[in-house]
Amino acid sequence: MNSKKRTVKRLATLCLAAVLTIGMLAGCGADKNAADDKKEDGIDYLVLVNKLNKLPDDWEDKLTTEKFTNTVGDEVEVETKAYEAYLKLKEDLEKEDIHVDLDSARRSVDEQQRIWDDFTEKYGEAYTAKTVAKPGYSEHHTGLALDLYLIIDGKDVVENEDMIKYTDIWAKIHEKLPQYGFILRYLEGKEHITGYGYEPWHIRYIDDPEKAADITKKGITLETYLGEAADTDVELDYGKSEIFDKATLDEAFVQTKCYFASWKGCELHKLAYAGDDKLTNVKENLDWVNSLEGGGEYVKVMEIIGNFHSPKDNKGTAWEPDMEYEDYQFWLGMDEEGSWSVVSTGY
Ligand code: DAL
Ligand code: ZN
Repeated sequence: MNSKKRTVKRLATLCLAAVLTIGMLAGCGADKNAADDKKEDGIDYLVLVNKLNKLPDDWEDKLTTEKFTNTVGDEVEVETKAYEAYLKLKEDLEKEDIHVDLDSARRSVDEQQRIWDDFTEKYGEAYTAKTVAKPGYSEHHTGLALDLYLIIDGKDVVENEDMIKYTDIWAKIHEKLPQYGFILRYLEGKEHITGYGYEPWHIRYIDDPEKAADITKKGITLETYLGEAADTDVELDYGKSEIFDKATLDEAFVQTKCYFASWKGCELHKLAYAGDDKLTNVKENLDWVNSLEGGGEYVKVMEIIGNFHSPKDNKGTAWEPDMEYEDYQFWLGMDEEGSWSVVSTGY
């Protein structure tokens, strides 16, 4: 799937040949990549499905699943091993009086489309883009991504905006994930790598507690673990604003980071609010973003400037290779629901 893994596989093959020659199988076998073994006869538990990587075409051929009905009466389908691991996690959590169920796990492309459409109707396209994957590009297609919901005092808490408030409970749940082979997938602060806002409920099965513990301890994303993206943090500069408060600027920063995640091979280093003086003629700016493709109904406008590095290999991209782009402009529009969208970028 990526060059790093291909190298590992080649090394493993060479290693196995050497081992067979000298008859010392045990010492070398330990170095083999578990995911590569499984690809031969089952699914790749480290498969990467994100904004840049579609579900592999042959995925369904190798997938086995379990189905059950959750406490709100919906049927949920989960990859078989992920389901077994989830049941153990659930049992362990119950010992601490934490009760969870699964809102959604495996989804077909049609189902993802329905969710995309529902969210767009309910929350608008901007919120949907940072929350829901495009059909075909959702990790939920794999059956390895599980959305938990909470049961608090016997009541189901399923809506995102309600669940997000239970930070202490999520912290306790997240602590237990690695030992059952799960990682938290959409980390706060890594939106420029994952392409999605923080989701405390979305856990991902990788079938390997040791690797899950390593990923969790390092605080990195699956993209970084697989060598697909460097682990960068983004410096945020709020500047001074009489127009926007910090929460509003944070929303705009997260949206910009989610948008940036689709720029293959680029590394984001800094985002800064461009300043109130860039909006001296707000009406003119607003008319301009609304005149652009995808515009038309924005009620506020903002400029953010960013520093990022382009990929060394710029094949298929519009970037100069291996270059630090500074003060690159991101123009955003805010819709009536209060969600920001990146409408235009450039110098
Ligand atoms: N909520 C995640 C990003 C999905 O829709 O796959
Ligand atoms: Zn999810």
